[in-house]
Amino acid sequence: MANTILVGAQWGDEGKGKIIDVLTDRVDVVVRTQGGNNAGHTVYLGDQKYVLHLVPSGILRPGKKCVIGNGVVVDPVSLVAEIAGLRKLGVKVDGNLFLSETAHLVFPYHRELDAQRERLKGKYKIGTTKRGIGPAYGDKAARTGLRVIDLINPPRFEALLKRRLKENNEVLKAFGAKPLSLKKVLAEYRAAGDFLKPFVANTTRLLHEATQRGDDILFEGAQGTFLDLDHGTYPFVTSSNTTAGGACTGSGVPPNRMDRVVGVMKAYTTRVGEGPLPTENAEIADMLHALGREFGATTGRPRRCGWFDSVATHEAAIINGIDDLAITNIDGLDTLEVIQVCVAYRVGKTRFDYVPNDIDLLTRCEPVYAEFPGWRSPTTGARDWKELPAKCRAYLKAIAELTGARPFIASVGPDRKQTIFV
Ligand code: GDP
Ligand code: IMO
Ligand code: MG
Repeated sequence: MANTILVGAQWGDEGKGKIIDVLTDRVDVVVRTQGGNNAGHTVYLGDQKYVLHLVPSGILRPGKKCVIGNGVVVDPVSLVAEIAGLRKLGVKVDGNLFLSETAHLVFPYHRELDAQRERLKGKYKIGTTKRGIGPAYGDKAARTGLRVIDLINPPRFEALLKRRLKENNEVLKAFGAKPLSLKKVLAEYRAAGDFLKPFVANTTRLLHEATQRGDDILFEGAQGTFLDLDHGTYPFVTSSNTTAGGACTGSGVPPNRMDRVVGVMKAYTTRVGEGPLPTENAEIADMLHALGREFGATTGRPRRCGWFDSVATHEAAIINGIDDLAITNIDGLDTLEVIQVCVAYRVGKTRFDYVPNDIDLLTRCEPVYAEFPGWRSPTTGARDWKELPAKCRAYLKAIAELTGARPFIASVGPDRKQTIFV
C-alpha cells in the first residue's frame, strides 16, 4: 500500500481507529505521530471493544510493528495502564510496540494547568479533554519539556523533575491549586519509566530502516483537520499539527517518502468541545444520540452533531492533499427521508466557499444546503458497493466529489467486516 498518511478530515472522531485497523492488514508498520491520550480510537473485533489512546490502532493485528513517534506527547502512567489493559485482553505488545525516546512527557502539572486555565476562561473555555495536552506541547515549544529519554535515566530525571516542579508549583499556587509532591510524582514516574523501558527505541532510525527495506508504513492521524493548531478553528483546537504535515515532523520520515493521503470523514459531522460548527443541528443530534451513538470515546461527552459540511471537507482535502476518502458511519443516516449537505456558507449576502479564518465570522456563518433523498433502508449488511442502495451510492459519490477526492472505503458499521472497498 506504500507509505500512507491517514488524517481526520473533520473535527476528530471520524472513525480513524476502525479504518486504521482495516488498513493495517495491508502494511508492515503503523505510527502515531502527534497528539496524546486526548485521542480515543475505537476498534471492534466481534463483540470486543478496544479504545486506543496512545497505542496505535494497528496493535490488534498480529505481526505488525506499532510505533509511538517523537511528535506524540506521552503520559507515561496512562500508557502503562493502556499497555497493561491490552495485555490482559491477550493483545501482544512485546517486541512489536516501540516508543520514541524523543517523545515529550505529560506530567500531573500539565493536567492541572489544563484544568485551571479552562476554569479561568469560564464561558470562553475550549472544552479540552483535560489530559494536559496544551501545557505539555507548550513546554516542548518553550524548551522546558522532559522526554522519554530523560524518564529512563533516573538521576537525570530526578534532577530535571525537581526543577520543573519548583516552577510549576509556584504557578499552581497562584491559581489557588494544590502544589504537587516531588516524592509522589517521582515514585509514580520512575515506576512507569521502569515499565516502559523495554519499549523505548530510536524510532526515527527504526522507521528509516523500515523504509530502506521497502516496508509499507501507515501514519495514524489523531484528532482532525479543524483541530489543527495552525489550520483549525483557533483557539478551539488542539496543540499539535493534526494535518498531513504533522506525520513527517512527528516521525522523522521525510515528505518525499510519503506516497498517499487518506482522509477519513463521517457521512455527517460531529464535534466534541467548544468552537464553531456551522452545520450543527439539533434534529440530527437527537436522532443519533437516541440510537446511543456519538458519545466521546475519551471523555464520554455527547458529541455535537450536524449535517455533512463539504466546505470544511473540501478545505481539508486541500490542506492535507487527500487522495482517497474513507467515509464512515453511513449507516447513521439510514432512516432519514431527506439528507442535507452544506455546499457553502453565508453571512448576510456574502457567500463563502471556504472556511473563513476569522473565528467570529465563522461563528456567524449560516450553512447553504443542498438536499439529497434518503435511502431509508439498512446499509449495515452491505459488503459490496453494489449492495448499497442506489440513493446511498449517489449520496456518497456526491459528498466525495464536493470534497474533491476519490471514494476509497465506505464503512457501514463499527466492525472490520462492515467495510466496503469502492
Ligand atoms: P476516531 O477517534 O476517529 O478513531 O473515532 P472514534 O473511535 O472516537 O469514534 C468513531 C465511532 O464510530 C466509534 O464508536 C466507532 O466504533 C464508530 N464507527 C466507525 N465507523 C463506523 C461505521 O461505519 N458505522 C458505525 N455505526 N459506527 C462506526
Ligand atoms: P481523536 O483522535 C475529538 C478536542 C477537544 C477540545 C479540543 C482541545 O479521537 O479524533 P485538547 O484536550 O486536545 O487540548 O482539547 O480538541 N479533541 C478531540 N475531539 N477527537 C479527538 O481525538 C480529540 N482530541 C482533542 O474536545 O475541543
Ligand atoms: Mg476519537
